[in-house]
Amino acid sequence: MIRLPSIVDVTDLTHFYTGGIKALDGLSFSIQKGEIVGILGPNGAGKSTAVKMMTGILRPTSGSVKIAGKEVAENLEAVRRIIGFMPQETALYEDLTAQEALEYHAELYAVPKNEVRERVAKMLELAGLTARKDDLVKTYSGGMKRRLALVRSILHDSELLILDEMSLGVDVQSRNLIWNQVRKMRNQGRTVLFCTNYMDEAEALADRVIIIDNGRLVAAGTSAELKQKHVGNYLIEVLIEGMSFEEGREWLEQRVQLEVETVSDPLNGGPRTAWIRSKAGNTDLPLVVGRLTENGLVVRQASMREPSLGDVFLAITGSRLRD
Ligand SMILES: Nc1ncnc2c1ncn2[C@@H]1O[C@H](COP(=O)(O)OP(=O)(O)O)[C@@H](O)[C@H]1O
Ligand SMILES: [Mg+2]
Repeated sequence: MIRLPSIVDVTDLTHFYTGGIKALDGLSFSIQKGEIVGILGPNGAGKSTAVKMMTGILRPTSGSVKIAGKEVAENLEAVRRIIGFMPQETALYEDLTAQEALEYHAELYAVPKNEVRERVAKMLELAGLTARKDDLVKTYSGGMKRRLALVRSILHDSELLILDEMSLGVDVQSRNLIWNQVRKMRNQGRTVLFCTNYMDEAEALADRVIIIDNGRLVAAGTSAELKQKHVGNYLIEVLIEGMSFEEGREWLEQRVQLEVETVSDPLNGGPRTAWIRSKAGNTDLPLVVGRLTENGLVVRQASMREPSLGDVFLAITGSRLRD
């Protein structure tokens, strides 16, 4: 396989906020040109801190962030031209109209004067804001503001698009529009890096997923690779009445020869109800349920499904992605 040059190189990145909060703890990863990469992690994992360093908004306490081979902190001007950034906190100009906000951004990013009109009109159209372009941004809904922030980030035709929580607080239509735009960037061969705590967003859009927790990388790979490596092809979950998890584990391992991987505490039963999760082959659910009921156990729920990225996270960290 030919390795394309990397466009993002993060090496051993550490960040302490004032007050001593350690937001990043030795984070390293690279992104190649043309990749769509999702950084997935729970709230507070350090995603926004990491992208703020890529865009030069924050300086690392230690470690290095390079964009297209250039150290960000020393090449702010050059790096800003390469990146289009949609921040998590939409820093829009509430007292401008959408038209004015985009024109201002075009000037800031040195879009050629003779192209500004056409580009701004195109972006307004893309965001579905043409009819509202002369209204003040502060009168917009959350979804409209997010759409405006998105088109602002792609207005200057950047090589690398960084989106922090693109669908936070937006309606389904806006989310679809934003997702489609990311897919379009992929077709154009652009690089997109997005942060999310929605598993389905990472699943739907990312060629590769980087999972971070507590400022550290916990796993990276394609969604299929991560599931295969950390969970398996299928996941069986059974809720058994009258059995603790330990009893259930022993029972399953001895009589069904299933390796029990992970477990959550009883969810909706009494103390003697066990949720058991196990890696499994695709014919094992009837087998497991059959053996359990033959032995007089009461199976209150049983399911088999393909693992999600949330299961990967649970398998690696022992905690759920979204609590
Ligand atoms: N401006 C700040 N000052 C102090 N601590 C902060 C600041 N911004 C973020 N943090 C802390 O840094 C950690 C990582 O936050 P953040 O990068 O926003 O995570 P994420 O984007 O993954 O939710 C959290 O513990 C958060 O509370
Ligand atoms: Mg964030």
